[in-house]
Amino acid sequence: TDHSSVLQDVRQGMIPAHIYNDKEIFELEKERLFSRSWLFVAHESEVPDAGDYVVRRVLEDSFIISRDEKGEIRALFNMCLHRGMQVCRAEMGNASHFRCPYHGWSYRNDGRIVGLPFHKEAFGGEEGFRKKGQTLLPAPSLATYNGLIFISMDPDAEPLEDFLGDFKFYLDYYTKQSADGIELRGPQRWRVKANWKIGAENFAGDMYHTPQTHTSVVEIGLFREPKAEKRKDGTTYWAGNGGGTTYKLPEGSLEDRLRYVGYPDEMIGRMKEQWTQQQLDVVGKDGFMVSAASLFPNMSFVHNWPRVEEGSDEVLPFISIRMWQPISENETEVLSWFAVDKNASEEYKALSYKAYLMCFGSGGMFEQDDVENWVSLTNTAAGSMARRLLLNGRMGLLEDGQNVVEPLTAEEYSGPGSTRIGYSEYNQRELLFRWADHLERPVQAAAQLHVGIDP
Ligand code: FES
Ligand code: FE
Repeated sequence: TDHSSVLQDVRQGMIPAHIYNDKEIFELEKERLFSRSWLFVAHESEVPDAGDYVVRRVLEDSFIISRDEKGEIRALFNMCLHRGMQVCRAEMGNASHFRCPYHGWSYRNDGRIVGLPFHKEAFGGEEGFRKKGQTLLPAPSLATYNGLIFISMDPDAEPLEDFLGDFKFYLDYYTKQSADGIELRGPQRWRVKANWKIGAENFAGDMYHTPQTHTSVVEIGLFREPKAEKRKDGTTYWAGNGGGTTYKLPEGSLEDRLRYVGYPDEMIGRMKEQWTQQQLDVVGKDGFMVSAASLFPNMSFVHNWPRVEEGSDEVLPFISIRMWQPISENETEVLSWFAVDKNASEEYKALSYKAYLMCFGSGGMFEQDDVENWVSLTNTAAGSMARRLLLNGRMGLLEDGQNVVEPLTAEEYSGPGSTRIGYSEYNQRELLFRWADHLERPVQAAAQLHVGIDP
């Protein structure tokens, strides 16, 4: 099928409803998007010591993300070189070697083969089958930023830092609140019968759903002030390949404003050492604090500060990182991590974790509200009528394409990218533009076959 009209509509901010539940589109996403984009798989703090590993999937491909004996991070395709059994079946652990359960080939945690039962009798020993140079297949590309480990199925992927671009500026608020960065807990994982794009779009810029979808969270007083009020004074920003939303903070100094969000003074002290003047100015001078965000294609972030107790004026910030891992055109596995500054006190970490669990994660109040919409949307997108419907994704644009609200000037806003006050769908469109760019670009011929590579 020719999808050019779909992509053309998306570029106008009109969204063919069926893209949220369409087998053919999903096949195209696998072939042209997930085959070459940078994808988050784990954080270095999940594998702190030599031998630590976690197993993560990218679509159907399973990878062992390990730290080898030299301390290097590896992403090894979790398939035995002999007859293809999954080598590592645990989700996480510590191992110097992985032994295949089928016939017992074993591999070091950097991927190299070490043991092969009956090597001499079955393969004629080293002359018959040379073990040296045989390794589990590494992910074609691997790179890290602030400890976040990304892989790409494209051996010629652009450098990760170029891909992140100016989004790095914002990434630091979530993942670098002190020199030692964050540590992760989790992930919690669960599956929802919803298309993967919906979550990514929602976290990227949907301030507009908060007053409606999350009414009950506001009603029970989880937040200090009516949430709708806060949201329309906030901004959406887009920079590099990611974007998100901010809250407007009350007047005050940098310290006042960080305290308002609930950060203790010792953490504020480290932020002041860690962040650039420009990063501090967005908070202290301009008065904006990052909230949810998404990095193309399917990674998201949350930063929020609910009340500690009912009726209390004290709030507590938490950070969460998540992946919308596609299972099919109508199912997504959500991986949701709690993230916290490594140098925070144990007491702060425990309380922040509680704040996270209350709001997000498999039982979080926001999560429950959101997912019902996404599942229902996905269901409705499967039918024949959805194929006749162009959804309106043009919020923030007038009919003639002019902006309802112009981007903030350098005077008003110190951060990079394009930033606007109030409700709009610029960010959702930015995600879909990138999606369309991938879908219309054919992939190169399949990469050559490998029979193990010397690491
Ligand atoms: Fe792994 Fe045979 S499939 S040892
Ligand atoms: Fe929500």
